[in-house]
Amino acid sequence: MIFQYIGDEVKFVIDERGKKYIFNEEDDFHSDLGIIKKEDIKKSNIGNILTTHLKREFKVIKPNVNDFIDLMNRQCSILIKKDIGLVLAYTGIGNGDKVLDAGTGAGAIALHFGNVVGNDGMVYSYEIREDFSKIAKDNIDSFRMNNIIIKNKDIKEGIEEKNLDLIFLDLIKPYEIIEDAYNCLNHGGFLVIYGVYLDVIQISHKILKNAGFEDISIIESLNREYEIRTQGIRPKTRMVGHSGYLLFARKL
Ligand SMILES: C[S@@+](CC[C@H](N)C(=O)[O-])C[C@H]1O[C@@H](n2cnc3c(N)ncnc32)[C@H](O)[C@@H]1O
Repeated sequence: MIFQYIGDEVKFVIDERGKKYIFNEEDDFHSDLGIIKKEDIKKSNIGNILTTHLKREFKVIKPNVNDFIDLMNRQCSILIKKDIGLVLAYTGIGNGDKVLDAGTGAGAIALHFGNVVGNDGMVYSYEIREDFSKIAKDNIDSFRMNNIIIKNKDIKEGIEEKNLDLIFLDLIKPYEIIEDAYNCLNHGGFLVIYGVYLDVIQISHKILKNAGFEDISIIESLNREYEIRTQGIRPKTRMVGHSGYLLFARKL
């Protein structure tokens, strides 16, 4: 588990309301629920309760990638779990694989890729905007991920990596780089395009076929959450009506 490095220097903590924090061992922690002394933070371990001077409780937990994404700095929309889950499951990406991602945004799916490819794999993520690539780099550094390289580059200028196992594109015109993507993938590798609009998916689909991709499929996932009430269990009234479509294709 790639996030294990974090435990030595900082503590991941959750309060009585379910709000998450990263505590630094160098400073006292101040909040509306009171103050926790840095000495108490330093000697705490996973599972311990830290109590403020107002007798409010915070618990030290073992974090996962989603806990970090919840807290990370971001200035653009990020991919959500239901779509990230499909990408990971349908491509079967795993330990030791080489992934290319564009654009990075704040780095949500890049962090998930880094988490599953492990220390033997590598993730290259292209982001055209300097300010966004700096935010993503800072997020990745603060999570101690050393298998993700953020490149402040326009992907249209060319993909520098070869023998990739997965190329993931979350761009306005992903179809502009499909041919380049084909040439940089391993035989057996996947190209996945995430698009908010169906017409982008349609154009991409046509170009994918001409470029030689096979096993092409388009998937949209609609997740319905349930709530447990005293009267019974029922779907929540509100749900995410649309995030995006996923277009999967394979170079065989
Ligand atoms: C919706 S955000 C990506 C979100 C991200 N995939 C995630 O996991 O949350 C789209 C990003 O693509 C970047 N972008 C747009 N065109 C690009 C290009 N030609 N090359 C690299 N990045 C690009 C944008 O600056 C923006 O940050």
